[in-house]
Amino acid sequence: MNKYILAIDQGTTSSRAILFQKNGHVVATAQEEFSQYYPNPGEVEHDPQEIWQSVLSVVEGVCDKANVEKKQIEAIGITNQRETTVVWNKETGKPIYNAIVWQDRRTSGTIDDLKSRELQKEVKMRSGLLLDAYFSGSKVEWILDNVKGARKLAHTGKLAFGTIDSWLIWNLTGGKTHITDVGNASRTLLLNVNKVQWDVLLCELFDVPMDMLPDLCDSSGIVAYTDPAIFGEEIAIAGIAGDQQAATFGHTGFHPGIAKNTYGTGCFLISPTGKELVPSEKSLLSTICWGLKGEITYGLEGSILAAGSAITWLRDGLGLIKSASEVSELAESVPDTGDVFFVPALAGLGSPYWDQYARGTIVGISRATTKAHIARATLEGIAFQVYDVVRSLEKESNTPLELLKVDGGAARSDFLLQFQADLLGVPVERPAGVELTARGVAYFAGLATGYWSDLQEIQQLETTTTTFKPKISESERNALTSRWADAVERSHRWA
Ligand code: G3P
Repeated sequence: MNKYILAIDQGTTSSRAILFQKNGHVVATAQEEFSQYYPNPGEVEHDPQEIWQSVLSVVEGVCDKANVEKKQIEAIGITNQRETTVVWNKETGKPIYNAIVWQDRRTSGTIDDLKSRELQKEVKMRSGLLLDAYFSGSKVEWILDNVKGARKLAHTGKLAFGTIDSWLIWNLTGGKTHITDVGNASRTLLLNVNKVQWDVLLCELFDVPMDMLPDLCDSSGIVAYTDPAIFGEEIAIAGIAGDQQAATFGHTGFHPGIAKNTYGTGCFLISPTGKELVPSEKSLLSTICWGLKGEITYGLEGSILAAGSAITWLRDGLGLIKSASEVSELAESVPDTGDVFFVPALAGLGSPYWDQYARGTIVGISRATTKAHIARATLEGIAFQVYDVVRSLEKESNTPLELLKVDGGAARSDFLLQFQADLLGVPVERPAGVELTARGVAYFAGLATGYWSDLQEIQQLETTTTTFKPKISESERNALTSRWADAVERSHRWA
């Protein structure tokens, strides 16, 4: 009987299930979008129950497509949109509020208060992160403060907090297991990344009772089995990782000077730094990439809060394109943007600017501007943000970038990647399948059960790649990036 690894990739706009076989090839994929709620400007919510149902549906879908029975699944790996916060009642198993999504800015005021109390340094030392509404801490606090009776329930130990991985595992195990991996935990603002333990002071700052928090585990290891009532089988849950961490692991083969960037809803650039935490002086985040065999791998991360979401905004908000895949062709139908720049600060600006109040800004529109110029400026705006993060990474790590490995939906655009290579002045390498997130967590799960014996075996599974080499001169690059810097200035502190 052939055995497979099932990766569940629960992202910001869709849930996916992907089956991998031993030679690393994808057997089948199923995908389902789910609702996005925008209650007020700057707020984004998901319905946790809808997410759970979408996960069940894609798992059934992928097994049907591949004609694979559940008993043929050796192990499940779960990867997820990070920081998105769910609070549920442990007795009823029901969420007490919608999930507050990582992009949500409603807690900016709470964060400003903490900043005004000069707590940034202490928080950064403990969590590796910056004070920002992006992370889970202030979102949990908001739910406890705004849902009637929530604080009382929390203090009697009846509520559980989790990122989406925890929520899914809770459901997959019929409410038996409340757990998260160290990488996801490192994005909550509640974890001490040096000690790799929940931090008393951080929990106090956000007024989060510690018994709401999930147990911590490695990213690779059998943590639980699915409730047989769900898939008719007890299947090992053997991998857990935030989507960016998983994508990094999926790329394999890092050394200083190599970073990965995932072009998803946002863009997240990670450069693994090994067993030591490298503190960021300014704008980057020190984060846990993964825990493997009891050993932590740290990384430096630049988080860009809007990338693919700017393309979906062209589709859903403006109606300029019918499907996201049209954007590249439209962008390439004009030779340049006609001096239009789009700073896609749709959810504020993350690295390296960290301005919660920045908002999307399009400058340089003239009577000659067409939707093609806007499409091109959107793709270029994504690449410019990555350029800014790379320059910060180079400064902070004192190491020039040699190669950028890329993945994620928008990485299918040759135009975007060529422009990215031009801006960075280094090669950009794209693997044949851009689903590195699912691949990474499948590796974590497969390593835990012995499906793949070790990292060496995994590295040999690597697929073929396409490399985009820089083609423009230094002076052309400088002209573009200085104009971009002007545009960014104009997007600051708008909201
Ligand atoms: O930190 C947020 C990130 O995990 C979301 O990923 O792929 O939905 O852009 P994505």
